[in-house]
Amino acid sequence: MREGKNLIGVDIGSSSIKVCQVRETRKSYNLVAFGYAALPPQAIVDGQVMDGNAVAETLQQIWHSAKIRQREVSLGVSGQSAIIRKITIPMMTAEELEEQIQWEAEQHIPFDIKDVHVDYQVLRRHPEQSQMDLLLVAAKRDQINDYAQLARDARLKPIVCDIDAFSIQNLFELSRGLPHDQTVALINVGANLTSLNIIANGISAFTREIANGGHGISEQIQKQLGIPFDLAEAYKCGATDGPIPPQVAQIVESSSDGIAAEIQRSLDFFMATSGDGEISRIYVTGGTSKIPSLSQAIERRARVPVEVWAPTEKLTIDSKKVDLGVLGLRAPQLAVALGLALRKEKEVRA
Ligand SMILES: Nc1ncnc2c1ncn2[C@@H]1O[C@H](COP(=O)(O)OP(=O)(O)OP(=O)(O)O)[C@@H](O)[C@H]1O
Ligand SMILES: [Mg+2]
Repeated sequence: MREGKNLIGVDIGSSSIKVCQVRETRKSYNLVAFGYAALPPQAIVDGQVMDGNAVAETLQQIWHSAKIRQREVSLGVSGQSAIIRKITIPMMTAEELEEQIQWEAEQHIPFDIKDVHVDYQVLRRHPEQSQMDLLLVAAKRDQINDYAQLARDARLKPIVCDIDAFSIQNLFELSRGLPHDQTVALINVGANLTSLNIIANGISAFTREIANGGHGISEQIQKQLGIPFDLAEAYKCGATDGPIPPQVAQIVESSSDGIAAEIQRSLDFFMATSGDGEISRIYVTGGTSKIPSLSQAIERRARVPVEVWAPTEKLTIDSKKVDLGVLGLRAPQLAVALGLALRKEKEVRA
């Protein structure tokens, strides 16, 4: 059950910040504000905030230019400093679980329990065995605190923190529904991170984060052609007026195949260790999903249909407040921010 108004979704990625405000009506989800701004190259490295001032300033600029008044936000944190486990515990009431959760978590988490924030969700109850399956999420307090502090520095009020992969799942559920009799994979390929979430029978069964993405492709172009990074990036995105050197397509293709190979290793690991059925479809988002040879490479290796999925597909857009040109350009990058924008001020645990 959810109450209150939607929070503003804030996704602080390593290449850019994405901000979305969604208003829910009985019939639709309306995108009423949207902001996007690039970040300087070293502001966020490996999910760590290296230049807090730059990030806080960029956030303030976005609030100003997108004319957002509301200050309550939900923040995304990458899964790198989080641990996500499906565990089975004895059947207990919600109150008992609330009391027991720290102890249960301690058995499964390789960090000191004092350094992590623990969250959980009951996935399934098995009354016949007096057991229940729990999704346990433990995120290091450091990263959460850093991001929350950044938001406060930008005069925002962080209310909710969510792991990127789950924000995407929430949005996908709204958009397509979670299939109850199939196994599908949601893959978000950003600049430095690729997140993978395999959903079996409507429940997240496996998540993984791979430290690779579109930035690595641009770096390869930069290195092999001996040109500045910005030019390599422009060549990759086809965002240049002049001619593009013929080698670029080849470099993009082979680096994309490298990412696809890493994805395939995770899919293989999942298939080898889980009892869930074969993956029937893969959905790809993120800025790097704009590269056609990437989804082709994933399809070739995984041998299942791959669909590039547009995060904005289910939304109506307030065209008086949202710049449709910028939105069209950035739509593939918005899965995390939109998923976060679905969160509400007050949520009651199911
Ligand atoms: N038209 C395009 N063609 C190819 N690549 C693109 C295009 N537009 C954006 N990208 C790439 O998408 C990436 C940015 O995507 P995204 O915004 O999803 O990443 P991020 O959230 O900032 O980073 P991360 O989540 O990895 O920290 C960059 O590597 C960028 O070069
Ligand atoms: Mg991202």
